[in-house]
Amino acid sequence: MASSMDFLKACENRRTIYQITNKIPISDARVEEIARHNVLHVPSSFNSQSTRIVVLLNDEHKQFWEFVKEVLKPQVPEEQFPQTEKKLDGFKAGHGTILFLNDPNPVKKLQSQFALYAQHFPGWATQSNAMAQYHLWTALEAEGCACNLQHYNPIIDQKAKGHWNIPQEWELQAQLVFGGYAEGAREAVDKGGKQQQPIEERLFIHGAKN
Ligand SMILES: Cc1cc2nc3c(=O)[nH]c(=O)nc-3n(C[C@H](O)[C@H](O)[C@H](O)COP(=O)(O)O)c2cc1C
Repeated sequence: MASSMDFLKACENRRTIYQITNKIPISDARVEEIARHNVLHVPSSFNSQSTRIVVLLNDEHKQFWEFVKEVLKPQVPEEQFPQTEKKLDGFKAGHGTILFLNDPNPVKKLQSQFALYAQHFPGWATQSNAMAQYHLWTALEAEGCACNLQHYNPIIDQKAKGHWNIPQEWELQAQLVFGGYAEGAREAVDKGGKQQQPIEERLFIHGAKN
Protein backbone atom coordinates (compact mmCIF):
# COMPACT_ATOMS: atom_id res chain seq x y z
CA MET A 1 0.00 0.00 0.00
CA ALA A 2 1.25 3.51 -0.79
CA SER A 3 2.26 5.52 2.27
CA SER A 4 0.09 8.35 3.56
CA MET A 5 2.90 10.72 2.51
CA ASP A 6 2.13 9.92 -1.12
CA PHE A 7 -1.44 11.01 -0.54
CA LEU A 8 -0.43 14.20 1.31
CA LYS A 9 2.13 15.04 -1.38
CA ALA A 10 -0.53 14.59 -4.04
CA CYS A 11 -2.84 16.97 -2.11
CA GLU A 12 -0.02 19.50 -1.89
CA ASN A 13 0.75 19.17 -5.59
CA ARG A 14 -2.85 19.94 -6.62
CA ARG A 15 -3.05 23.51 -7.84
CA THR A 16 -5.05 25.70 -10.20
CA ILE A 17 -3.22 25.81 -13.53
CA TYR A 18 -4.65 27.94 -16.33
CA GLN A 19 -1.86 27.61 -18.90
CA ILE A 20 -2.53 24.19 -20.34
CA THR A 21 -2.00 22.24 -23.56
CA ASN A 22 -3.83 19.36 -25.22
CA LYS A 23 -0.94 16.92 -24.67
CA ILE A 24 -1.28 14.97 -21.44
CA PRO A 25 1.32 12.52 -20.10
CA ILE A 26 -1.25 9.69 -19.69
CA SER A 27 -3.57 7.87 -22.11
CA ASP A 28 -7.31 8.45 -22.37
CA ALA A 29 -7.70 4.87 -21.09
CA ARG A 30 -5.88 5.91 -17.89
CA VAL A 31 -8.19 8.93 -17.55
CA GLU A 32 -11.12 6.52 -17.79
CA GLU A 33 -9.53 4.22 -15.18
CA ILE A 34 -9.19 7.15 -12.75
CA ALA A 35 -12.78 8.26 -13.44
CA ARG A 36 -14.00 4.70 -12.71
CA HIS A 37 -11.99 4.68 -9.49
CA ASN A 38 -13.68 7.97 -8.58
CA VAL A 39 -17.18 6.63 -9.17
CA LEU A 40 -16.45 3.47 -7.16
CA HIS A 41 -14.61 4.95 -4.19
CA VAL A 42 -15.76 8.50 -3.43
CA PRO A 43 -18.18 8.32 -0.49
CA SER A 44 -21.77 9.62 -0.44
CA SER A 45 -24.30 10.06 2.35
CA PHE A 46 -26.18 6.83 3.08
CA ASN A 47 -24.19 5.47 0.11
CA SER A 48 -26.67 7.29 -2.15
CA GLN A 49 -24.18 7.45 -5.08
CA SER A 50 -25.88 10.54 -6.50
CA THR A 51 -22.89 12.01 -8.36
CA ARG A 52 -22.77 11.65 -12.14
CA ILE A 53 -19.59 12.22 -14.14
CA VAL A 54 -19.33 12.97 -17.86
CA VAL A 55 -15.80 12.94 -19.29
CA LEU A 56 -15.31 14.92 -22.51
CA LEU A 57 -12.04 14.31 -24.35
CA ASN A 58 -10.32 15.75 -27.41
CA ASP A 59 -12.91 17.06 -29.91
CA GLU A 60 -15.76 16.61 -27.42
CA HIS A 61 -13.88 18.78 -24.94
CA LYS A 62 -13.33 21.43 -27.62
CA GLN A 63 -17.02 21.28 -28.50
CA PHE A 64 -17.94 22.01 -24.89
CA TRP A 65 -15.92 25.23 -24.91
CA GLU A 66 -17.36 26.24 -28.28
CA PHE A 67 -20.81 25.86 -26.74
CA VAL A 68 -19.76 28.06 -23.80
CA LYS A 69 -18.66 30.73 -26.29
CA GLU A 70 -21.97 30.46 -28.14
CA VAL A 71 -24.08 30.92 -25.04
CA LEU A 72 -21.92 33.68 -23.60
CA LYS A 73 -21.63 35.76 -26.76
CA PRO A 74 -25.11 37.32 -26.58
CA GLN A 75 -24.72 37.88 -22.83
CA VAL A 76 -21.36 39.66 -22.75
CA PRO A 77 -20.95 43.28 -23.96
CA GLU A 78 -19.52 43.18 -27.48
CA GLU A 79 -16.32 45.05 -26.61
CA GLN A 80 -15.60 42.62 -23.74
CA PHE A 81 -16.16 39.47 -25.77
CA PRO A 82 -12.60 39.19 -27.21
CA GLN A 83 -11.31 38.99 -23.64
CA THR A 84 -13.93 36.39 -22.72
CA GLU A 85 -13.13 34.41 -25.84
CA LYS A 86 -9.41 34.46 -25.02
CA LYS A 87 -10.13 33.06 -21.58
CA LEU A 88 -12.39 30.34 -22.98
CA ASP A 89 -9.80 29.46 -25.64
CA GLY A 90 -7.38 28.92 -22.76
CA PHE A 91 -9.65 26.17 -21.43
CA LYS A 92 -10.27 24.81 -24.94
CA ALA A 93 -6.48 24.49 -25.38
CA GLY A 94 -6.57 21.64 -22.84
CA HIS A 95 -7.24 17.95 -23.41
CA GLY A 96 -10.44 17.27 -21.52
CA THR A 97 -13.29 18.59 -19.42
CA ILE A 98 -15.04 16.59 -16.73
CA LEU A 99 -18.62 17.51 -15.89
CA PHE A 100 -19.83 16.82 -12.36
CA LEU A 101 -23.59 16.49 -11.92
CA ASN A 102 -26.03 15.47 -9.20
CA ASP A 103 -28.86 13.07 -9.92
CA PRO A 104 -31.74 14.25 -7.69
CA ASN A 105 -33.51 10.87 -7.77
CA PRO A 106 -31.39 9.03 -5.15
CA VAL A 107 -31.70 12.16 -3.00
CA LYS A 108 -35.51 12.21 -3.27
CA LYS A 109 -35.66 8.49 -2.48
CA LEU A 110 -33.64 8.98 0.70
CA GLN A 111 -35.75 11.98 1.67
CA SER A 112 -38.88 9.88 1.57
CA GLN A 113 -37.19 6.94 3.33
CA PHE A 114 -35.60 8.99 6.11
CA ALA A 115 -37.90 11.95 6.74
CA LEU A 116 -35.90 12.97 9.82
CA TYR A 117 -32.91 13.88 7.66
CA ALA A 118 -34.87 15.10 4.62
CA GLN A 119 -33.54 18.66 4.71
CA HIS A 120 -29.91 17.48 4.83
CA PHE A 121 -29.79 15.19 1.81
CA PRO A 122 -29.40 17.87 -0.90
CA GLY A 123 -26.48 19.44 0.99
CA TRP A 124 -24.87 16.08 1.55
CA ALA A 125 -25.19 15.32 -2.18
CA THR A 126 -23.35 18.58 -2.94
CA GLN A 127 -20.65 17.67 -0.44
CA SER A 128 -20.20 14.25 -2.00
CA ASN A 129 -20.04 15.84 -5.45
CA ALA A 130 -17.30 18.18 -4.19
CA MET A 131 -15.37 15.17 -2.89
CA ALA A 132 -15.57 13.67 -6.37
CA GLN A 133 -14.22 16.92 -7.83
CA TYR A 134 -11.35 16.95 -5.39
CA HIS A 135 -10.53 13.27 -6.03
CA LEU A 136 -10.24 13.76 -9.79
CA TRP A 137 -8.44 17.09 -9.54
CA THR A 138 -5.82 15.62 -7.16
CA ALA A 139 -5.52 12.31 -9.00
CA LEU A 140 -5.05 13.91 -12.42
CA GLU A 141 -2.43 16.31 -11.11
CA ALA A 142 -0.67 13.38 -9.42
CA GLU A 143 -0.48 11.79 -12.90
CA GLY A 144 1.20 14.89 -14.31
CA CYS A 145 -1.83 16.71 -15.73
CA ALA A 146 -2.58 20.40 -15.15
CA CYS A 147 -6.12 21.25 -14.02
CA ASN A 148 -8.48 24.07 -13.14
CA LEU A 149 -12.04 24.06 -11.87
CA GLN A 150 -14.75 26.07 -13.63
CA HIS A 151 -18.44 26.90 -13.14
CA TYR A 152 -20.20 27.72 -16.39
CA ASN A 153 -23.40 26.19 -15.05
CA PRO A 154 -26.24 26.98 -15.36
CA ILE A 155 -25.69 28.88 -18.64
CA ILE A 156 -24.23 25.83 -20.39
CA ASP A 157 -26.62 23.21 -18.99
CA GLN A 158 -29.17 23.05 -21.81
CA LYS A 159 -26.62 22.85 -24.64
CA ALA A 160 -24.54 20.24 -22.85
CA LYS A 161 -27.53 18.12 -21.85
CA GLY A 162 -28.93 18.20 -25.37
CA HIS A 163 -25.63 17.34 -27.06
CA TRP A 164 -24.37 14.61 -24.72
CA ASN A 165 -27.73 13.00 -23.89
CA ILE A 166 -27.60 13.99 -20.25
CA PRO A 167 -30.93 13.58 -18.40
CA GLN A 168 -32.69 16.93 -17.91
CA GLU A 169 -33.06 16.51 -14.17
CA TRP A 170 -29.35 16.01 -13.48
CA GLU A 171 -27.88 19.20 -12.00
CA LEU A 172 -24.54 20.40 -13.32
CA GLN A 173 -22.26 21.43 -10.45
CA ALA A 174 -18.79 22.08 -11.85
CA GLN A 175 -16.39 21.48 -14.71
CA LEU A 176 -12.81 20.27 -14.22
CA VAL A 177 -10.59 21.27 -17.14
CA PHE A 178 -7.34 19.38 -17.63
CA GLY A 179 -4.43 19.24 -20.03
CA GLY A 180 -0.66 19.20 -20.06
CA TYR A 181 1.41 21.94 -18.47
CA ALA A 182 2.26 24.78 -20.83
CA GLU A 183 5.95 25.63 -20.65
CA GLY A 184 6.79 27.28 -17.35
CA ALA A 185 3.22 27.05 -16.01
CA ARG A 186 4.05 24.85 -13.03
CA GLU A 187 7.19 26.81 -12.17
CA ALA A 188 5.21 30.07 -12.23
CA VAL A 189 2.60 28.69 -9.84
CA ASP A 190 5.23 27.21 -7.50
CA LYS A 191 7.26 30.42 -7.54
CA GLY A 192 4.17 32.46 -6.67
CA GLY A 193 3.59 30.17 -3.68
CA LYS A 194 0.18 30.15 -2.10
CA GLN A 195 -1.27 32.93 -0.01
CA GLN A 196 -2.34 31.43 3.28
CA GLN A 197 -4.46 33.01 5.99
CA PRO A 198 -2.94 32.30 9.42
CA ILE A 199 -3.32 28.62 10.28
CA GLU A 200 -4.00 29.59 13.91
CA GLU A 201 -7.24 31.23 12.78
CA ARG A 202 -8.32 28.17 10.83
CA LEU A 203 -7.21 25.10 12.77
CA PHE A 204 -8.01 24.24 16.39
CA ILE A 205 -6.75 21.12 18.14
CA HIS A 206 -7.81 19.97 21.60
CA GLY A 207 -6.54 17.08 23.67
CA ALA A 208 -3.39 16.20 21.70
CA LYS A 209 -0.91 13.96 23.58
CA ASN A 210 2.83 13.52 22.90
C1 LIG B 1 -15.52 25.24 -4.61
C2 LIG B 1 -14.50 25.88 -5.50
C3 LIG B 1 -14.91 26.67 -6.56
C4 LIG B 1 -13.98 27.22 -7.44
N1 LIG B 1 -14.40 27.89 -8.55
C5 LIG B 1 -13.51 28.32 -9.45
C6 LIG B 1 -13.95 28.91 -10.66
O1 LIG B 1 -15.15 29.00 -10.94
N2 LIG B 1 -13.02 29.37 -11.53
C7 LIG B 1 -11.67 29.27 -11.26
O2 LIG B 1 -10.87 29.68 -12.11
N3 LIG B 1 -11.22 28.68 -10.12
C8 LIG B 1 -12.10 28.22 -9.22
N4 LIG B 1 -11.67 27.61 -8.07
C9 LIG B 1 -10.22 27.52 -7.80
C10 LIG B 1 -9.78 28.39 -6.63
O3 LIG B 1 -9.75 29.74 -7.01
C11 LIG B 1 -8.39 27.90 -6.18
O4 LIG B 1 -8.51 26.55 -5.82
C12 LIG B 1 -7.85 28.68 -5.00
O5 LIG B 1 -7.57 30.00 -5.36
C13 LIG B 1 -6.57 28.06 -4.42
O6 LIG B 1 -5.58 27.92 -5.44
P1 LIG B 1 -5.00 26.48 -5.81
O7 LIG B 1 -6.11 25.71 -6.48
O8 LIG B 1 -3.85 26.73 -6.74
O9 LIG B 1 -4.58 25.78 -4.56
C14 LIG B 1 -12.59 27.04 -7.19
C15 LIG B 1 -12.19 26.26 -6.09
C16 LIG B 1 -13.12 25.67 -5.28
C17 LIG B 1 -12.65 24.81 -4.15
